[in-house]
Amino acid sequence: MRITVIGCGYLGAVHAACMAKLGHQVVGIDVDHRKISALSEAKAPFFEPGLESLLREVQETGRLTFTTDMSAAAGNEVHFICVGTPQKKGENGADLSYVDASVEELLPYLSPGDFVVGKSTVPVGTAERLSNAVQAQEPAAHLVWNPEFLREGHAVADTLQPDRFVYGVSDGSEEHPAVAALDEVYAIPLSTGTPRLVTDHPTAELVKTAANSFLATKISFINAMAELCEAAGADVTRLADAIGMDDRIGRKFLNAGIGFGGGCLPKDIRAFMARAGELGADQALTFLREVDAINMRRRSRVVELARELCGGTLLGQRITVLGAAFKPESDDVRDSPALSIAAQLQLQGAVVTVTDPKALENAAKRFPELHYEGDVDAAISGSDALLLLTEWREYVELDPLTLIGSVGTARVLDGRNVLDAAKWRSAGWAYRGMGRP
Ligand code: UGA
Repeated sequence: MRITVIGCGYLGAVHAACMAKLGHQVVGIDVDHRKISALSEAKAPFFEPGLESLLREVQETGRLTFTTDMSAAAGNEVHFICVGTPQKKGENGADLSYVDASVEELLPYLSPGDFVVGKSTVPVGTAERLSNAVQAQEPAAHLVWNPEFLREGHAVADTLQPDRFVYGVSDGSEEHPAVAALDEVYAIPLSTGTPRLVTDHPTAELVKTAANSFLATKISFINAMAELCEAAGADVTRLADAIGMDDRIGRKFLNAGIGFGGGCLPKDIRAFMARAGELGADQALTFLREVDAINMRRRSRVVELARELCGGTLLGQRITVLGAAFKPESDDVRDSPALSIAAQLQLQGAVVTVTDPKALENAAKRFPELHYEGDVDAAISGSDALLLLTEWREYVELDPLTLIGSVGTARVLDGRNVLDAAKWRSAGWAYRGMGRP
């Protein structure tokens, strides 16, 4: 099929490459010239495992091109909207200006029988509004909501083999022409048994925000248990293992630590609360305020623990922060708990060095006042305390026996509960975890 992908960020760049991999003829469109020229040379403008080799592979077939010119959408049958919906400045709601602008610019190029397919995460009600705009311009075109569930760090695999597809169509019926069109777009993953659900517009929009809210709630639940475990002298990692064995609960997303961050979960739960308020259903989501509060408390808790670990004061303590990205296998530092903790430690008088295998460039743009060191050995040398805040494999595999010779004082705070506490203690380290004795 002939496909347009509007927005070439984390979602769109991966989506465009994957659609070409599935055999379609794809053009990726973005207003950012630098992004487009990088992508045109098969360079990913951000770190995502497997993306660059996929870009090279599909560009060699001639099936994928990039441009800043919206008229390249003319003549295509399916137009995906993949632009960002960040949190509005000073408000909880989502900023829809990029979604609105991209649909507005696309309208003149629509032809009868075209499909505009929304993938961005939007407040419920957006699809209906955009659908009216599409039909006012081209009555024989259709708008579908087809939310995306990919995780950064696993984006290529999540796009090529997702858990499920959700198609939100105006009448919610299997007979809607968009269902057959999307079935053709996703023919390969559907042929391997990927389930797909057809819903109406509002249900499809809500599926995405409900899924992210559930994930955020699961993480804050286990972090609340971590607070209790600390008070009671229990171990939250063993608690999570034990409750996770009940398959109604499941062990995934039950890792207590410094909490969630990134460009999705934090802003999505806030936008969801804001939208519920507009719909007069705010009571239904007041629990998400608590989910957010528990999550933000984790960041202050780490600072307190670091102070305790350093003997009661952070003043002048040389602290090495291992990890700046909001999670491993990503260079994304949007709302990264690791960076926010590093900044708080520095404000309280610690001498902080931050290291990360991929995210230092982005981190330095957000927090230029912090000190960064790309070489992990140099970052650790002479340190008074190590704080593991993003669980990159190279940090999880650090050898406590080797390291002890290069630090000033052997103290480690495991913000993700991923280190073997017994091994670090027996090597002579003062070890603290999150919600562990
Ligand atoms: C999240 C969802 O998982 C995706 O399904 C969704 O498509 C995406 O948002 C989106 O809306 O676009 P992502 O932001 O890439 O994906 O990251 P997650 O893997 O969900 O992790 C979010 C945060 O939770 C990270 O900071 C991670 O460190 C933290 N986390 C995760 C925990 O603290 N504990 C856990 O057990 C799991």
